[in-house]
Parts: sequence; structure tokens; C-alpha cells
Amino acid sequence: MDKKLLRLTVNKQEYEVYINPKALLVEVIRDYIGLTGTKRGCDTVSCGACTVMINGMSVKSCSVLAMQAEGAQITTIEGLEQNGKLAPIQKAFIDHGAYQCGFCAPGMIMSAQALLNENPHPTEWEIREGIEGNICRCTGYNSIVRAIDATAEGKYREDRS
Ligand code: FES
Ligand code: FES
Repeated sequence: MDKKLLRLTVNKQEYEVYINPKALLVEVIRDYIGLTGTKRGCDTVSCGACTVMINGMSVKSCSVLAMQAEGAQITTIEGLEQNGKLAPIQKAFIDHGAYQCGFCAPGMIMSAQALLNENPHPTEWEIREGIEGNICRCTGYNSIVRAIDATAEGKYREDRS
């Protein structure tokens, strides 16, 4: 199949790549752009490991063609850190031990960040609902929920200086 030029904005950086027009967004992020923090778990829109933000909303990147994301602002886990400083939600995950193998963590964190963008003070039920599309096989969900709750309570602040 003929490759097509795709202009993609990921983590505020512009990329131009020639891709198979049927390539999934997760594939382009990982294999063409080289941002491997986004994980590829099931490819069937079930596990949430591939979650990124598109225009601030969480999206499973195996559920969209990369071509469909042209013109959008895509944020991956690598884009949360700025100037070498972790985002509050990342610090909270570390402090709460909200991961073991870590495979689910990037997608889980992106879903959590998207939830907090939309609802800065979610209830525990809203947090659980916000991450219901993300599966963790190791840690269990309580520490993850506690990390998101602590971030929402302002226990982790932006420090991007
Ligand atoms: S790889 Fe996309 S949901 Fe599992
Ligand atoms: S920490 Fe291993 S899958 Fe969640």
C-alpha cells in the first residue's frame, strides 16, 4: 500500500512521517516516532495500556487510525514531564506504589490525568469510573485510586521551574 505523509503533533512537537494509511495511532507513536512509553497490550481496545490524550481527552490509541489524529494535540506519558520534573500525578503514583511491573502505568496515568483535567475533584467512585477502561494485572486498584485522590486533593503540586 502507498505510504502517505502524516503531520502529527505529539507533546507539542511536530512530526512528519510517511505511514501506511491504515496504521494505528499506537503503532505510529511507538514505531515511527519512537515514544515507547505508550504500551501496546491487547490491540483490541480492552486493556487501556495504549491510552494517550487527544486534545486533553483520554483515548485508547489502538482504537484510532493515526491519520484520524492529524491536526490534534496528542499527549503521551513522555509529555507529562517537563524540564525534567515529573507531573504531580506521576509523583503520586510513585509515592503510593501504584505500579508493580509498570506495564499499565503509562495508560493508567494518562486516563487519570484526563479525568483530573475534566473533573479536578472527583469522588472515589468517579475515580474508579475514570480508570475503568484500564486493566492492571499486578498492583490492584486501591493504591492507584489513592494516588489519583491524593493528586486531586492537591498533595502533589506542579513544580516545573
Ligand atoms: S492496546 Fe489499546 S486497549 Fe489494549
Ligand atoms: S503494574 Fe503490572 S499491569 Fe499494572
